[in-house]
Amino acid sequence: MKNLILVTGGTGYIGSHTVVELIEKGFEVVSVDSLHNSEAWINDRIGMITGKTPPLEIFDLCEIDRLDNLFKKYPGISAVIHFAAFKAVGESVEKPLVYYRNNILSTINILEMMKKHQVKYMVFSSSCTVYGQPDKLPVTEDSPLQPATSPYGNTKKICEDIIKDTTVASNEIKAISLRYFNPIGAHPSALIGELPRGVPENLVPFITQTAIGLRDELKVFGNDYNTPDGSCIRDYLHVSDLAKAHVKAVERLIGGSNKKDYEIFNLGTGKGVSVLEIINTFEKVTGIKLKYRITGRRAGDIEKIWADATLANKELGWKTEYSLGDALKSAWEWEKNLRKMK
Ligand code: UD1
Repeated sequence: MKNLILVTGGTGYIGSHTVVELIEKGFEVVSVDSLHNSEAWINDRIGMITGKTPPLEIFDLCEIDRLDNLFKKYPGISAVIHFAAFKAVGESVEKPLVYYRNNILSTINILEMMKKHQVKYMVFSSSCTVYGQPDKLPVTEDSPLQPATSPYGNTKKICEDIIKDTTVASNEIKAISLRYFNPIGAHPSALIGELPRGVPENLVPFITQTAIGLRDELKVFGNDYNTPDGSCIRDYLHVSDLAKAHVKAVERLIGGSNKKDYEIFNLGTGKGVSVLEIINTFEKVTGIKLKYRITGRRAGDIEKIWADATLANKELGWKTEYSLGDALKSAWEWEKNLRKMK
């Protein structure tokens, strides 16, 4: 029998791309999503891409009884990939309790139900936000963690700890946390992609919405940082590359090739790119002149960060394949499709 993977947040941005990659690698998938920040039709699009529409269960993971029923309804789940979480940094500062309750309770509930139903493996969706502004670049998994700058970031740190402690306390549960740098872009089919609600907080959706005329101009948050062109530097990776790393992580756990019960991997390209370089590359690959203006710094932004992804390269046998240009072009193709649909 093929391995069955439970994907929480399976209609979300990274979740949906991961479901596609799992199905294409021959895994069976069941998705659960509250649709708090995604749409059910994304699941149909997954079906269009892969020829197989996975079952989608719609409920909130804080409802433990419904989660219990899900594990009963789908016996034989091999692993859980846990994406589902609230992720708006600014909103988390305004509504910390909402964020702590949702992100932490859902993670605890899943771990409890995994134990109850003897599901051994979890892959967790973490973030490079746990490193804050590192002293040394690139960042390895051993770099010291910094206090989180938002409740959202703190929930990632706390959930990592909860998962780690659970693997220590139980001989059964084994887990991998994947610390993502900045995922961008969309599936090459342009049938799924990032679906921000309202005004996007993240750079690339703001760029594509500006290019299509939904926003007047992009504000570049600061050009007085200690970087070559003065704008902030991040490590942007294609979401389909990121998705493939989850398949590798699940295979590592199921295949028993993990070296510890709890492992952490950075996922990035290993290359830092500035905001102005993103704009230039976007203009080059799309032929569009982007309207943008330099404004003041955004509170809480870090100056520069990029990954040392050597461990993921070596241990997961994973590396990014798409270029920055590919990723930005795919984001643009998705934006155009989305507006055609609306
Ligand atoms: C942000 C979060 C991070 C979270 C991630 C999830 C902060 C401080 N960090 O990362 O914790 O895991 O989103 O996706 O919010 N920029 C502009 N103009 C814009 C938008 C962004 O210049 O309109 C710049 C930012 O200053 C930054 C870069 O673009 O330098 C990337 O920003 P963004 O996409 O929001 O990601 P992060 O801030 O890296």
